[in-house]
Amino acid sequence: MALASVIFIAAGGVQVYTDMRGSAHDLSLGDEGVCVYCHTPMSASSDSSAPLSNREISNRTFTMYSSPTMDMTVESIPGEVSLVCLSCHDGAMAFDALINNPGVSNKGVMTGRAAIGADGLANDHPIAVEYDPSKDPHHAPVTNGKVGELPLFAKSGGASHRTQIECATCHNAHDSSYGNFLRMSNARSRLCLTCHRK
Ligand code: HEC
Ligand code: HEC
Ligand code: HEC
Ligand code: HEC
Repeated sequence: MALASVIFIAAGGVQVYTDMRGSAHDLSLGDEGVCVYCHTPMSASSDSSAPLSNREISNRTFTMYSSPTMDMTVESIPGEVSLVCLSCHDGAMAFDALINNPGVSNKGVMTGRAAIGADGLANDHPIAVEYDPSKDPHHAPVTNGKVGELPLFAKSGGASHRTQIECATCHNAHDSSYGNFLRMSNARSRLCLTCHRK
């Protein structure tokens, strides 16, 4: 519990999480705890959009989404918070590839459907997109770095404005209550319609 408390204080507020134990994101095999596979209180990666991340960053080259009908801009590489996801979901990096590794026991590598690989981003929903409804009015407005309840993230390289759609815009790695770690139910396309006004 010590690790969890340090993270809560460092993040500046008390948050309520659904118990992660037993979810697909509980990689612990021994007594090491759930959080350490993604967070560390010490020597963490310094990017604030992936707070206290303990993940080594994937050095793979990812093929990004592109389409002639897109009006908004996709960066050439995933944002930092998405790189945290991809440090396991690339299907190449080991679960124990940690910046500060206290000797965790799960040395596995992801296989199967959830391992989206280096090409996977090209045929999934675009990420590292700058959400800008002025470029296409069929999109909901942004309020305080969020579209409805969905958070946008800062561009890599220390930007302070939250403008980017990343994996964690639609997903909350801590909460599996809606299935697929979604931030809200997608029944009747509710998640999609939060942004897309068709
Ligand atoms: C599978 C990876 C993963 C695991 C395991 C994980 N986190 Fe996170 N956490 C993230 C990512 C990615 C972010 C940044 C994106 C976001 O804010 O949702 C984050 C952000 C946070 C934040 C700051 C944002 C917020 O929601 O307040 C806190 C606090 C946090 N995590 C606490 C925890 C605690 C406590 C545990 C263990 C019970 C834990 N995390 C386990 C991936 C993980
Ligand atoms: C420490 C490694 C790790 C990190 C980091 C990580 N995941 Fe996962 N994730 C897993 C594992 C392991 C599974 C289970 C895979 C399986 O069932 O084959 C999983 C499963 C999932 C699933 C499917 C859930 C289900 O119930 O089947 C989603 C969605 C997902 N992760 C999204 C994310 C997102 C988004 C991020 C970043 C915010 C992230 N993950 C970061 C390890 C990770
Ligand atoms: C625009 C919203 C959105 C974004 C951005 C997004 N996802 Fe998802 N993701 C979903 C939805 C919705 C599902 C549920 C399955 C479906 O309807 O296709 C899903 C499903 C998944 C699954 C389960 C896939 C399976 O076939 O079992 C994984 C793993 C996953 N996402 C990881 C990621 C990662 C990693 C990123 C960033 C690289 C990401 N997602 C970005 C919305 C999103
Ligand atoms: C956080 C906001 C957000 C959410 C949630 C979201 N989208 Fe998007 N989506 C966007 C933006 C922004 C674009 C880029 C639009 C553009 O450039 O014209 C986009 C692009 C797309 C595209 C590609 C369009 C093209 O021209 O190639 C498809 C398809 C799409 N979204 C479907 C979905 C579906 C299906 C869901 C629900 C699973 C969803 N979106 C959820 C914001 C979102």
